[in-house]
Amino acid sequence: MLNGSNQGEVFLIGAGPGDPELLTLKALRMIQEADVVVHDRLVSKAILDLIPDGVERIDVGKKPNHHPVPQHKINTLLKDLAERGRRVARLKGGDPMVFGRGSEEAAVLRDAGIPVSFAPGITAAQGVSASTGVPLTHRGLATSVRFVTGHCRADMPLDLDWDGLAHVDTTLVVYMGHANMQHIAGELMQHGLPSDHPVLVVVNGTRPNESRLVTHLGALQTKRAVIAVPGPVLFIIGRVVSLLDGEGRAETNAILQAPELRQVLHG
Ligand SMILES: C[S@@+](CC[C@H](N)C(=O)[O-])C[C@H]1O[C@@H](n2cnc3c(N)ncnc32)[C@H](O)[C@@H]1O
Repeated sequence: MLNGSNQGEVFLIGAGPGDPELLTLKALRMIQEADVVVHDRLVSKAILDLIPDGVERIDVGKKPNHHPVPQHKINTLLKDLAERGRRVARLKGGDPMVFGRGSEEAAVLRDAGIPVSFAPGITAAQGVSASTGVPLTHRGLATSVRFVTGHCRADMPLDLDWDGLAHVDTTLVVYMGHANMQHIAGELMQHGLPSDHPVLVVVNGTRPNESRLVTHLGALQTKRAVIAVPGPVLFIIGRVVSLLDGEGRAETNAILQAPELRQVLHG
């Protein structure tokens, strides 16, 4: 019995971008207290390995353009589990409230009277910033940072505030952007950013197989559309990319030779 009744509860937990050391203590405690874990595709194996033995796991992982478990069914699943008295850890990649639909799930649960609590996660932008040493803001280079989606609902055309985004002193971090990156680069240049404006591309950020590439808007715009990528991809666009240090740059250039990154950006 939980909460003095037969009703369970749901922990909405951010698992971070992959490195298990980026998990918060609160998130770890909630994972250990749950009796069922409902997790996404982006939650790394290293994090899933922290789930205690004997705890039920339900994989509702979504692949781009392919949704094995639609969102409304995930909402219903969480509600049903909690109504049956289960203590549910809803484990999501990065932070559940940054392009994570955590607030949609929370709204459905709250409407049903189910207690919800949150553990924030390190969002991909922060994880990648730390793993590469590239800051998101920096005096003289970036006075603000914006997290932007590169993908629209049901593959509708991207309709972003291009005028507002195309500022040299703003760092743009594009999530879910690989399929539309040519278009995004083109729009940003059309709205005033120079073609040599730097871009850092990071695949599998913070994971043992992290890959990086330094490029610029002009180069991105000329690449073929990308169909397949070997993992989640984040684009950091802005002058801060110039701060990737010598060592990081040398490493990045070596990683640039990696076949999977050639596939991402060189078609
Ligand atoms: C649906 S969004 C979820 C974002 C997540 N809630 C967060 O806060 O990081 C998925 C996108 O996040 C980015 N992403 C998540 N984890 C990543 C990682 N380890 N490396 C690079 N990009 C990542 C990618 O752009 C991916 O397409």
